Amino acid sequence: MSEQRRRILTGDRPTGRLHLGHWVGSIQNRVRLQDEFECFFIIADLHTLTTRPEKEWLEQVPGVIRDMVLDYLALGIDPDRSTLFIQSAVPGTAELNLIFEMLVTLPRLERLPSIKEMAEAAHLDVLPFGLVGYPVLQAADILLPRADAVPVGKDNVPHVEITREIARRFNYLYGPVFNEPEVIISEVPTLPGTDGQNKMSKSLNNAIFLSDPPEAVRKGVMSMYTDPNRVRADIPGTVEGNPVFTYHDVFNPDRAEVDDLKTRYREGRVGDVEVKKKLLAAIEAFLTPIRERRAEFARTPGVVDDVLASGNQVMREVARDTLELVRNAMGMNYFR
Ligand code: TRP
Repeated sequence: MSEQRRRILTGDRPTGRLHLGHWVGSIQNRVRLQDEFECFFIIADLHTLTTRPEKEWLEQVPGVIRDMVLDYLALGIDPDRSTLFIQSAVPGTAELNLIFEMLVTLPRLERLPSIKEMAEAAHLDVLPFGLVGYPVLQAADILLPRADAVPVGKDNVPHVEITREIARRFNYLYGPVFNEPEVIISEVPTLPGTDGQNKMSKSLNNAIFLSDPPEAVRKGVMSMYTDPNRVRADIPGTVEGNPVFTYHDVFNPDRAEVDDLKTRYREGRVGDVEVKKKLLAAIEAFLTPIRERRAEFARTPGVVDDVLASGNQVMREVARDTLELVRNAMGMNYFR
């Protein structure tokens, strides 16, 4: 008897090309989870409308999605095993969202710091209705494929908690349809940006992108923030919390080299330039095959379109099944 694999749903808003921080914090984990779970990866374009409904933004979305899908494929998201789809291509999302809006209170949503933070970042002083509903839409994303687990970063955990509450409330009112999905939280520490001050982020201009050409990677690494007290190579430096060494720990597989650099850094026997050059070599060794795979996918016409068309199709079928269960449970299948 074939055993039904447990399901995962996770994904990203289409905000831009992926950087090293995305790889460390989430994509690496997703690639692994494909071995164990039936994976659904959503590109949550509707969620971007909560803060950016303008046509100028929507005109950019297809290009952004294309870049992200090429990144995913180059990193090892495997469309033969996993379903990669566009949120707005699955109308069932909107229907489930509407039903879920009745199962959560406004104060519950207004209490979430994430919503206020998104409003602030977008310079909005009053909240659009849809932004308050962001976590409800996310619950619809997660429960539409009836996911068992959701791998997310710390910042999204409260949204999965809302999802669990909505699932519970639905089941209580109408009978058991949904699991309460578990959070799979990534344990890896957040990768700092090249500024060493913040997490890596496109908007902070401190990112190294997976699709960056060697020259851009070199600039990013060589300009990286290190120990500010160390104005000369013969001054003992601090390794802990020093971004250059955080990156060495993540990207340099040559442990002996890293240990030697750390020792000499602490003793004031190595310059920043040598540390950075060795880091650059390690990052290039990591990025070169990714860049090659990406270029190959980009050269083959129709790859992105085909992957998304078939992912959307699979997700629409799953959505149809879920919505039938939902309507039957609610008894809202009358006069069909
Ligand atoms: N909220 C996620 C973000 O921070 C994106 C997202 C939308 C998502 N729907 C999801 C993540 C469902 C996990 C599951 O960008």
